[in-house]
Amino acid sequence: MSAALAPLAGPSRTTCRSLSNIAASSISRLPSAPLRRPRHLHTFPPLASHENPLGLPRNTDRLPPKMPQRSRGGPPAKRPVPNVKHVLAVSSCKGGVGKSTVAANLALSLLNNPPEGSERRPRVGLLDLDIFGPSVPKLLGLEQAGEAELTEGGALLPLTNHGLPTMSMTYLLGPEKASNPIVWRGLMVQKAVQQLLFDVDWRSTPSDPASAGLDVLVIDMPPGTGDVALTLTQLVQLSGAVIVSTPQEVALEDTRKGVAMFDKVGVKATGLVLNMTHYMPPPPLPQDPLPLFGPSEPFDKLAKSLGLPVLGRLPVEPAVSYGGDAGWPVVLKSDQEGGETKRVFKKMAEVVWAALREKA
Ligand SMILES: Nc1ncnc2c1ncn2[C@@H]1O[C@H](COP(=O)(O)OP(=O)(O)OP(=O)(O)O)[C@@H](O)[C@H]1O
Ligand SMILES: [Mg+2]
Repeated sequence: MSAALAPLAGPSRTTCRSLSNIAASSISRLPSAPLRRPRHLHTFPPLASHENPLGLPRNTDRLPPKMPQRSRGGPPAKRPVPNVKHVLAVSSCKGGVGKSTVAANLALSLLNNPPEGSERRPRVGLLDLDIFGPSVPKLLGLEQAGEAELTEGGALLPLTNHGLPTMSMTYLLGPEKASNPIVWRGLMVQKAVQQLLFDVDWRSTPSDPASAGLDVLVIDMPPGTGDVALTLTQLVQLSGAVIVSTPQEVALEDTRKGVAMFDKVGVKATGLVLNMTHYMPPPPLPQDPLPLFGPSEPFDKLAKSLGLPVLGRLPVEPAVSYGGDAGWPVVLKSDQEGGETKRVFKKMAEVVWAALREKA
């Protein structure tokens, strides 16, 4: 077991609440009542400056992060995300292949399936780095949860549902602006990503300086290799990356590019996920898997040529889609629905934990 995950021994077990309690009561901020203050970004005077696009108050302890300087001949200096041991990106160059769905369900599976031998529930968070099209609040049932609050030091406090703390642009815009498109140039995007990476307090009790941070922060990436991917990979030491693909050949080329992007910054992808492999018709129809988007062989060939493990093969399941739209991801469903998908995510969590434990 690596030192990084060794301290998985400790007291508390968070419990997930029932679906009927999902509204308001199951949504929480981290327990730091005396330090919290409301944040009304939308009520501030014009905030969108290049240096501070999220309009966070500054103090001397938390200077704005700077883009790393490339030392002569060497790679840019990377920094840890405060109070986070492992950062795991869920990525794909292609849009709509299921990155956010995989990120949300994988984060919950990591949370609910502790690594073998650990005596306490792992601490897992989910950061939505899709600045232009955030999905995490919807997938986690936090769309109406309001704005993120601030610590006394001016750091953002995550919003939690299903026991999973999350941060997203949606929480920073205010209810009346959340449905408006964000129209920002590259520099603004880079700075916003830096603030989301370095200005969130992920500790379980931010008012207590000794309180524990996260074992793993899962990052839901936007599609492509643009500003967000560049900023993340240059600034942060990633422990791994999960690359999501669908079976179509048009997606496979993007999968190759996604792996190459991480390779370029010295991060070996943890593995590939093949989403929407097939559809199993409901009984009494014959139980023959239908490969709606083509055969898996080209994907298998690609995984082999890249030397990467396949972390999971997810079928097309209506329960996945309904679950996401309802803010109740499929891995939390207690009935028969989405049975195969739930099994795949459980196995995926085990493999990802094992990969993270190999990291220092
Ligand atoms: N295995 C699946 N079965 C059924 N529906 C799925 C599955 N995977 C994803 N979906 C649905 O496909 C749609 C797109 O998924 P998602 O938003 O996760 O993709 P994405 O790659 O994050 O998209 P974007 O590039 O826009 O961020 C969603 O409606 C989701 O519910
Ligand atoms: Mg997405």
